[in-house]
Amino acid sequence: CEVSVWDSDEPVPRCDLLKRVEGVHGLLCMLSDRIDTEVLDAAGPNLKVISTLSVGFDHLAIDELRKRGIRLGYTPDVLTDATAELTVALLLATARRLPEGIQEVKSGGWSSWKPLWLCGYGLSGSTVGVLGLGRIGLAIAQRLKPFGVKRLLYTGRHPKPHAQEVDGEYVPLDTLLCESDFVVVSCALTPDTCGLCDKAFFSKMKTTAVFINTSRGAVVNQDDLFEALSIGQIAAAGLDVTSPEPLPTDHPLLTLTNCVILPHIGSATYSTRATMAKLSANNLLAGLTRDAMPSSFVMIDGQRGVYYSETWKPNGGTLYLPVSGGVLANMAKYDQISFEQGCFCIGDAMGRFQNKAQGQAVHCWRYSVVEKKLFIALTYFFTNFQVFQEVLHALECL
Ligand code: NDP
Ligand code: DGY
Repeated sequence: CEVSVWDSDEPVPRCDLLKRVEGVHGLLCMLSDRIDTEVLDAAGPNLKVISTLSVGFDHLAIDELRKRGIRLGYTPDVLTDATAELTVALLLATARRLPEGIQEVKSGGWSSWKPLWLCGYGLSGSTVGVLGLGRIGLAIAQRLKPFGVKRLLYTGRHPKPHAQEVDGEYVPLDTLLCESDFVVVSCALTPDTCGLCDKAFFSKMKTTAVFINTSRGAVVNQDDLFEALSIGQIAAAGLDVTSPEPLPTDHPLLTLTNCVILPHIGSATYSTRATMAKLSANNLLAGLTRDAMPSSFVMIDGQRGVYYSETWKPNGGTLYLPVSGGVLANMAKYDQISFEQGCFCIGDAMGRFQNKAQGQAVHCWRYSVVEKKLFIALTYFFTNFQVFQEVLHALECL
């Protein structure tokens, strides 16, 4: 490949990006690069693959990528542990008021041991509510449970089978807010979640509750959070993400002692960032050579997740996926594909995925050449998202 590198840890200035992207076949970007129609137009029709050094995808015009048939690679899983670990650190720092304590030591405010000085909130015996029990949400819950958490509540669009691992109780958002001592946000930023944590949201929380957000800043209405923290509607907040980033140093939230703000460092361990870098480079290369990407982002109707949580019912149904021409080529990697009147079935893949799904079976797959759609009819399949990802990964179905 001929490679043009922005050789700096600082984001590439927009005008440079627009200039340098012209005519490229692939683009490796950061979450700080807004990849919208302007960038895609500047790149032109050569652009076939984008690889982002992030699991978050809110900086990308997903619908537009889909329309233009541009494949997308991202970095799920490899940053889950690091981000969950940071979330726990932030939660403890916020709840136990570590930054305030450190400041008091430095400023001479530490006069003696005092019974009620710098008291905070502990996890033991508490109820934790997780908003978005995805990969990171689950990993956070797994780490918090051993602190003696009594109840683990979660909410999202649908119940998650993997919640069993943490004795998670699926509850409506309002119940989670009313009953949780700690509310942890780890959902994706989508049109549905944008501004979700607003005045009404905070007003349902306990006055002793601690709010933590390590997803994206725009999930929170920061004016409403400022008010909730100022008037004692909630006890404290810990944020790893803000809107905008960086948060201006004169932002009102920075005046509050009960608000701990970190500069978006969830995945910032040396090894995680190195793994993310390798993964995104490999995604890019696979995209360029039209091979299956190690981690490709699946877009269906412009949304990730819509297929199994909204289209699907636990007892099966038929899924309609728009597929690219590359699907058939990829299917050839399987031995047992049989074509019958414009459809194919995947005997081998069925068995394999059935094992991985621990009994949840893929019922039947077929591809209609006429309609250019892949149909998957199945039994109790899409409650297991990981299996679905593996299937789609195998198909490279974008
Ligand atoms: P996943 O896709 O595994 O999880 C996202 C979760 O969001 C899913 O459980 C999903 O639930 C939930 N969700 C989606 N829509 C809604 C909704 N409307 N209401 C409630 N929940 C919803 O992603 P990851 O766990 O890997 O990552 C989550 C996010 O964390 C990323 O998108 C990114 O923005 C952020 N992140 C931040 C980092 C940092 O440095 N602070 C590091 C890494 C990630 P359901 O399936 O039911 O729709
Ligand atoms: C992501 O990957 O989305 C994080 O925000 C940074 O690692």
